[in-house]
Amino acid sequence: MKTLAKSAARSATKYALGALCGLMLGTASAQAAEGVKLPEQDWSFDGVLGLFDRAQLQRGLQVYREVCAGCHGLRYIAFRNLADLQYNEDQIKAIASEAIIVDGPDDEGEMFEREGRLPDYFPSPFANDKAAAASNNGAVPPDLSLMAKARFGGADYIHALLTGYEEAPADFEVLEGLSYNAYFPGHQIAMAQPLDDDAVEYADGTEASLDQMARDVAAFLTWTAEPKLEARKTAGIWVILFFLFVTGVTYASKKKIWADLHKDDGSKE
Ligand code: HEC
Repeated sequence: MKTLAKSAARSATKYALGALCGLMLGTASAQAAEGVKLPEQDWSFDGVLGLFDRAQLQRGLQVYREVCAGCHGLRYIAFRNLADLQYNEDQIKAIASEAIIVDGPDDEGEMFEREGRLPDYFPSPFANDKAAAASNNGAVPPDLSLMAKARFGGADYIHALLTGYEEAPADFEVLEGLSYNAYFPGHQIAMAQPLDDDAVEYADGTEASLDQMARDVAAFLTWTAEPKLEARKTAGIWVILFFLFVTGVTYASKKKIWADLHKDDGSKE
């Protein structure tokens, strides 16, 4: 009887701690772990002139499809958007056709499943959030389309998170079902380490080290969060060139107008 009461008290404390941690994880997840500096990576898309590396985006898509898509959707990306990654229409149709899309209702009022097509969006792997949470220790794997924008550090954070699984310090108790991660706020994450060396075999022959895959999928998720990044940068450069041109023309006309006035002044003397 005594031991029963004791174990009940113990599990109650455990649940209370779990709930508290859950609350903390939930509120703190807008940023990387407090006081932890994210290692800064070099990205091809950094800077005013930086562009995406197409080969890297294709590798990132492969990592997403083969690993992350098991738990995470990309609801703002349609298959036809993959044309941006320099795939041709047949390749995109082939990728889309491997997705299962729930469509309907049909004439009998039933929903049905069909192969994906170009205008479809990457589907979520779970029917709803309850089903997603039930399969993942109570945590819902978030949609990844805008993740690179939603987290401080963007691609650096995603790369750090995926490579940041390590042994917890001796004085740190990791709750059951969670994993220790150096960069996740609160350090306990409900996503078990998703990538390890050679988790995929790259179509382009690149060595699939953990670091390489984390880098490629982080670049890919930067593209999903801002597919128009390059157009924005190019537009910015044209705007600057336009203003330089206008400045030049204005300066030249000012000189011309005042040159005439100066001449008039001169003739009066
Ligand atoms: C087995 C399921 C599973 C797989 C596979 C998986 N994840 Fe997750 N992921 C989760 C869960 C669950 C969470 C929510 C974790 C939490 O809130 O504690 C999560 C959260 C995340 C987050 C958000 C972290 C934050 O700051 O809130 C990112 C980013 C992420 N996953 C990226 C990835 C990437 C990239 C891959 C593929 C390489 C991947 N995940 C594969 C289950 C998964």
